[in-house]
Order: sequence, then C-alpha cells, then structure tokens
Amino acid sequence: MEYEKIKQASDFIKSKISVKPTIGLILGSGLSDLANKIEDSIIINYKDIPYFPISTVQGHKGNLIIGKINKTNVICMQGRFHFYEGYDMNEVTFPIRVMKLLGVEQLIVTNASGGVNSSFNEGDIMLITDHINRMPNPLIGKNDERFGVRFPSMNNAYDKDLVKLTISVANQKNINIRQGVYIATTGPSFETNAEYKYFRLIGADAVGMSTVPEVIVANHCGIKVLGLSVISNVFRDNPNQEQSHNEVLSNVEASNKNMIKLIEGIINANNK
Ligand code: HPA
Repeated sequence: MEYEKIKQASDFIKSKISVKPTIGLILGSGLSDLANKIEDSIIINYKDIPYFPISTVQGHKGNLIIGKINKTNVICMQGRFHFYEGYDMNEVTFPIRVMKLLGVEQLIVTNASGGVNSSFNEGDIMLITDHINRMPNPLIGKNDERFGVRFPSMNNAYDKDLVKLTISVANQKNINIRQGVYIATTGPSFETNAEYKYFRLIGADAVGMSTVPEVIVANHCGIKVLGLSVISNVFRDNPNQEQSHNEVLSNVEASNKNMIKLIEGIINANNK
C-alpha cells in the first residue's frame, strides 16, 4: 500500500537524522551545486531508502541531503524523477509525501525551462507564479485522505506570500528576476515551433518537463510551494533554431551563483 511505503521511507530517513527539516528543496537540471551550501549534512543515496525511486538522467544526481542552511533545517533532493524517464506519477511525487511525513512545511522547487515569453533571455531566473498542466494529474486514482482532500484547490499553488518574499529578497540582493507561468509537458522531445507559439498564445512564459506533479502533490498535502526556473533556452520563432540538453545545462550553470544567493536569502528571510 502506498501510504505504508511512504511511511517506511520516511521512518528510515528519520532513523538517520536528529533534526526535523522544515524546508524541502528540489534541485533541477544543472542546479545541484546548491547542495554544497548545506552544513552538517547527512547524505542518503536514493537507492538506500526503502521504496525510493532512483534517477537516471545526465546532470541529475540521486541524493537526499539533510542539514542546515544557516539556521534552517532543510532536506534537499539532489536530482528528481521525471515522468519521461518512465516513472509513474506515484514515483515522481513519492519524495514529496515522504517530506510531508518528515515535517516539511515549505517546498522550494527549481528547474530549467525553455523561455516562450519573447522578452526572456537565456540565463534569466523566473519566479513561477502559476502553472498550466499538460501532464497527467498525479492525484488521479484513489484519494488518500491522510494526505489531503479529493478535490484540492490550486488557487495558491505558488504561495503568494513566498512570491512576495522572493521579490523582496531579489530586490535587496540586486538579483534580476522575471515572473511568469510555467507550462509542464511530458517531454522528452522538445517543442515544435508550432507548440512554442501555441504555449505563448495560451499564456505560458516558460515550458519544462518537471515540477508541476510535485507542486500539485505538495499543495494536496498542505506544503507551501515556491518555484524558481532558470530559462535555459529561448524560443525565438526561428525555424533553424534547435534545442539541446547540453545547451540547457551550460546556460543554467551561468545562473547558478544568483540562484544560490537568492535561495539562501529566501531561507534566511523566512526564518526571521
Ligand atoms: N522545452 C521543454 N523543456 C525544457 C526546455 C524546452 O525548451 N528547456 C529546458 N527544459
């Protein structure tokens, strides 16, 4: 039974740590450096945790790191699970429910995405203010009331207070951020030109292949979410333009420093 598996995974993690993490972090493509900022860390490989899935993509590691960023206890996923890898939605979102049982109250999710807003540039950091879901909904199936209600609201999917906090931290630290709507596709193929145009028309600013399943499940179980996306490539309506995973990784690399500064600032401000 799913709940029992989640409980066993969380009990295993609890047996290895002595603090309660309150903030969860998911580090997306090319963003795993933030994990180096975690102090007094305990690193647990996904493969050692009962029932935990294991990640397979280049640029994604497979560790849970529990420790402190300044004074805040955090639990960090260095590497996430993607639907396009062949995991089902229960597997993709398994770690979120494990975090819930560990006591996590807020989740900071990061990813790399393609810019569909024509004013965006490669390397921009976009604060996610809302999403459009074009993946299967991870809550399809029997609802477990221990986690949340059958029909959860997604009205505050990206917590409005955390959005405000992020804007003020970015201003304070002189980090330029954009805001926008993230549209989630299954991937793994990148978009056709017609699809990029379509996504722009329906109100998306960036497109990616992750995040939304975790965000839906976090909202379902009452974890507040903050989403940050690094724009790794921008659709410029040019028929000769091609995307590549290497381009994605190298453009994200360039934004790493600001992303780390921003997330550290948010965690510190949050703890006051
Ligand atoms: N499309 C979908 N996912 C992505 C992209 C993109 O252009 N860039 C990074 N992740």
